[in-house]
Amino acid sequence: MVGSGRFITFEGGEGAGKSTQITRLAARLSSLGLKVRTTREPGGSPGAEIVRHVVLSGAAAALGADTEAMLFAAARVDHVDSVIRPALEAGEWVLCDRFTDSTRVYQGASGVSPALIGALERLALQDLAIDLTIIVDVPAEIGLARAAARRGDGVTDRFEGDSLEIQERRRRGFLDIAAAEPERCVVVDGTLDAGGVEAAIWAAVEGRFAEIAAVSQRPA
Ligand code: TYD
Repeated sequence: MVGSGRFITFEGGEGAGKSTQITRLAARLSSLGLKVRTTREPGGSPGAEIVRHVVLSGAAAALGADTEAMLFAAARVDHVDSVIRPALEAGEWVLCDRFTDSTRVYQGASGVSPALIGALERLALQDLAIDLTIIVDVPAEIGLARAAARRGDGVTDRFEGDSLEIQERRRRGFLDIAAAEPERCVVVDGTLDAGGVEAAIWAAVEGRFAEIAAVSQRPA
């Protein structure tokens, strides 16, 4: 743990609805008087946003999956050092759209070894620990349909256009992480309507952080 803040990551496949839920959780936490910062990966800091463009445009794909993983990690180092760590040290609640589990799942599915992924993770995190990871789970078919609707006529990014089979493997990957690390991860059913997903996330947050349960149950 760094400082007195809290670090929550959101993970899931394409079209899981993470961004809507991050906005809703941020509003709820802010309404309790907490200082909240929302951010995302790849990106989240000026340096990392440059790398975001390189990886999501597909420009780095020809360099191979290991190099792509290193680029995601390079972006993460900058994001952690310049945004996440200082915010946690200042006592903020940091909500991050995708983080290290996305590297494990996406780059893992592209053939990057667990040894390299582990080394990159340690490099970026140092003593930083994730307090809670919320995995928003939807079947790949539903996620892809939602992502396509959101995109309209726009082009798919580097990973969105992958086959249903690959997307389903990624879904399994997130669920496997949740099963292996139940003390850190909570899986919520992303097929519920947005209000239902929000309620499930709030229950997880109240269950995890005693300080939230205490303030949210205080009579107004
Ligand atoms: P983004 O446009 O941020 O959207 P969404 O989170 O809604 O899918 O897409 C980020 C893409 O980058 C997504 O396809 C997952 C991928 N990604 C990785 O492959 N590795 C990583 O470490 C991270 C953070 C993201």
